[in-house]
Amino acid sequence: MLGLKFPWLLWAYACCCSISFCGRVVVWPTDASHWINVKVLLQELVLRGHEVTVLVPSSNLLINYQDTSSPFTFEVLQVPFSRETLDAFMEDFLNFWMNEASNLFPWEIMWTMKEQLEVFTNMSKQTCDTLVMNSRLIAKLQQAKFDVLIADPLSVGGELVAEILEIPFVYSFRFSEGNVVERLCGGLPSPPSYVPASTMGLTHQMSFLERLQNFLFYIFTDLFFVKFWRDEWDGYYSNVLGRPTTLCETMGKAEIWLIRTYWDFEFPRPFLPNFEFVGGLQCQPAKPLPKEMEEFVQSSGEHGIIVFTLGSMVYNLSDEKSTVIAKALSQLPQKVLWRYKGKKPETLGSNTRIYDWIPQNDLLGHPLTKAFITHGGTNGLYEAIYHGIPMVGIPMFADQHDNIAHMVAKGAAVQVDFNTMKTQDLVDALNTVIYNSTYKENALKLSKIQHDQPVKPLDRAVFWIEFVMRHKGAKHLRPAAHHLTWYQYHSLDVLAFLFICTATIVFILFKCCLCCCRRCGRIAKRKKE
Ligand SMILES: *[C@@H]1O[C@H](CO)[C@@H](O)[C@H](O)[C@H]1NC(C)=O
Ligand SMILES: *[C@@H]1O[C@H](CO)[C@@H](O)[C@H](O)[C@H]1NC(C)=O
Ligand SMILES: *[C@@H]1O[C@H](CO)[C@@H](O)[C@H](O)[C@H]1NC(C)=O
Repeated sequence: MLGLKFPWLLWAYACCCSISFCGRVVVWPTDASHWINVKVLLQELVLRGHEVTVLVPSSNLLINYQDTSSPFTFEVLQVPFSRETLDAFMEDFLNFWMNEASNLFPWEIMWTMKEQLEVFTNMSKQTCDTLVMNSRLIAKLQQAKFDVLIADPLSVGGELVAEILEIPFVYSFRFSEGNVVERLCGGLPSPPSYVPASTMGLTHQMSFLERLQNFLFYIFTDLFFVKFWRDEWDGYYSNVLGRPTTLCETMGKAEIWLIRTYWDFEFPRPFLPNFEFVGGLQCQPAKPLPKEMEEFVQSSGEHGIIVFTLGSMVYNLSDEKSTVIAKALSQLPQKVLWRYKGKKPETLGSNTRIYDWIPQNDLLGHPLTKAFITHGGTNGLYEAIYHGIPMVGIPMFADQHDNIAHMVAKGAAVQVDFNTMKTQDLVDALNTVIYNSTYKENALKLSKIQHDQPVKPLDRAVFWIEFVMRHKGAKHLRPAAHHLTWYQYHSLDVLAFLFICTATIVFILFKCCLCCCRRCGRIAKRKKE
């Protein structure tokens, strides 16, 4: 059936299968921007002749399983929560981070984070339940004889399905809060002295106070993770698998971790052989724009254009914010293409056009593009890096502050505070990145690093997935750290042993000396007598 719809697929299938290996891939996806990113990888796998089956919750935001032109097979999990519940959760989440969080104390923010995590965990558990309690579905999946599972640690459950199906799995993701999953479950070494914890917005060069802050944040996220996340799941995993296990132990079995960043974006840091940095795998040369859009872009003349989007999740802003932004944009000589679904602001200038959707990659690759205003999601940042466009970052939540901090540190972006932003701040920031040539030069430098790789990120990602399929895992890359306890890992037992040995020797020597001294003393005394 797939072949009839896609004759080229049949061709690709025949072609690939004859020269290499055709596998069956099953996917436990994460919604929203994560799906946009992993989709590119899955499409490439299909092109190379692999079959891709996606386990998709019946209520989700962006995974359109009713799309008959999709090259993937969908296995729909009938979850008990509705699309409305999901929308309400997202709206609460966005509203909290965009409008409320800035006026709260840290512990109030933490409390809300905990509550949001509970709701999210509840939905994740319900999604898992639909699979683990459905023995017919499990039998069907077992019969399908998949070779590998692709998962994302943010959507807990993928690793559990891989365990049930007894197949190897590969992770694809950007980060976890405080790098907690990579560090604690993946064994990734992260010295807090120069590896900034994600979501802190720190760089690799930290003052004493920043290092202290970073260190404490690592401890805080570890405790938060153990208390509110791991404890929730350890029992669940043990129950389902019928043996005592933990979430972290199961996650640690990932064969390969495909991280969606690269050294143009990351600060240099230690990593393990089963970590592959494949940031920007979705980037492509720009395609021509739709005619009407191209005319608008050309009308900007020598001033060029600015591309503006706050991502796939933020559709509208408060009236106050959109007025400030529109007023700032109207003061610029550039033409602006703004992706926005909210109410049209009254201050909108004649140089600004609002679109429901924009071909972001094609616009960023347009020769007239001067700057990119972004919320700081990794997908958008990588498209800007790829095309060498300087950025103005307006981060709001999740990894966005961190991503923008990286770009600011690399000299390719200016950050504007979303909560305190005035019209003039945005105008100044845009003028800086457009007219001060250092920003463009730095963006081009990053672009060159991104392009100058021996193997393209997408090919590397596909290679490792195929490797895992061919060899039924990548155990030779797995560090023995997974078998150690925390005190063994940090050699605390060895240090304790050495300390005791040294102390014993010192004690014995001291006793001997004391003994000698006494004896000498006695002899001397006797002589005197
Ligand atoms: C999720 O929440 C609902 C209602 O609050 C509750 O009935 C249900 O038991 C929870 N599910 C899980 C898996 O915790
Ligand atoms: C976005 O629009 C929805 C309805 O269209 C509204 O309920 C919500 O408050 C708006 N969000 C903001 C931040 O204004
Ligand atoms: C351009 O920006 C850089 C980095 O912020 C700064 O050092 C330099 O002074 C700026 N140049 C001008 C002409 O403003």
